[in-house]
Amino acid sequence: MQKIVLFASGNGTNVENIITHFKNSSLGTVVAVFVNNPRAKVLERAKNQNVKSILFDKEQLNSGFVLDELNKIEPDLIVLAGFLWMFPVAIIKEYPNKVINIHPALLPKYGGKGMYGKFVHQAVLENKEKETGITIHFVNEYYDEGEFIFQQATNIENCKTADEIAEKVHELEQKYFPQVIEKLITNN
Ligand code: GAR
Repeated sequence: MQKIVLFASGNGTNVENIITHFKNSSLGTVVAVFVNNPRAKVLERAKNQNVKSILFDKEQLNSGFVLDELNKIEPDLIVLAGFLWMFPVAIIKEYPNKVINIHPALLPKYGGKGMYGKFVHQAVLENKEKETGITIHFVNEYYDEGEFIFQQATNIENCKTADEIAEKVHELEQKYFPQVIEKLITNN
């Protein structure tokens, strides 16, 4: 059984979906959710699913506390599922090819610092893009620049608001993210 840990900062719909997906799986299980925001809704979602959450601040992320907690768990895959802080190089080095992220756009477009959540969808709308999508990629020391694992596009010509675009991207995330994680842990 492969051990998956999740990192999240906010709402946590991806976290909930991934936990649910692996509840009845013999391949992997979500053992902990690492959260950087004490007011994040994801804390409640993890609790409702009986998954342990580990809360940390920026100092704890960068000083070794988070790495120590990870090392106690020895995860097979670390998944950034709506995690909005820069991920420390020290952790990436300790877990090579085991840290992945989901980005709500077709990278390399609409990536980089400050490009997250609704800001991405707003920019996509303003640029009158005909399509957007999701990118799942390995995490390296630069925002949104690690090697791609998976992309899926969706047509947004009928979308008139950033919220409508967000909804279409959300549907892709719900459908594909658990599948991609499952494939990765299967090949581990
Ligand atoms: C998701 O759309 C995810 O792709 C995005 O944040 C949202 C979190 O939603 N991540 C980024 O923008 C990372 N740069 P959730 O908390 O409901 O899963």
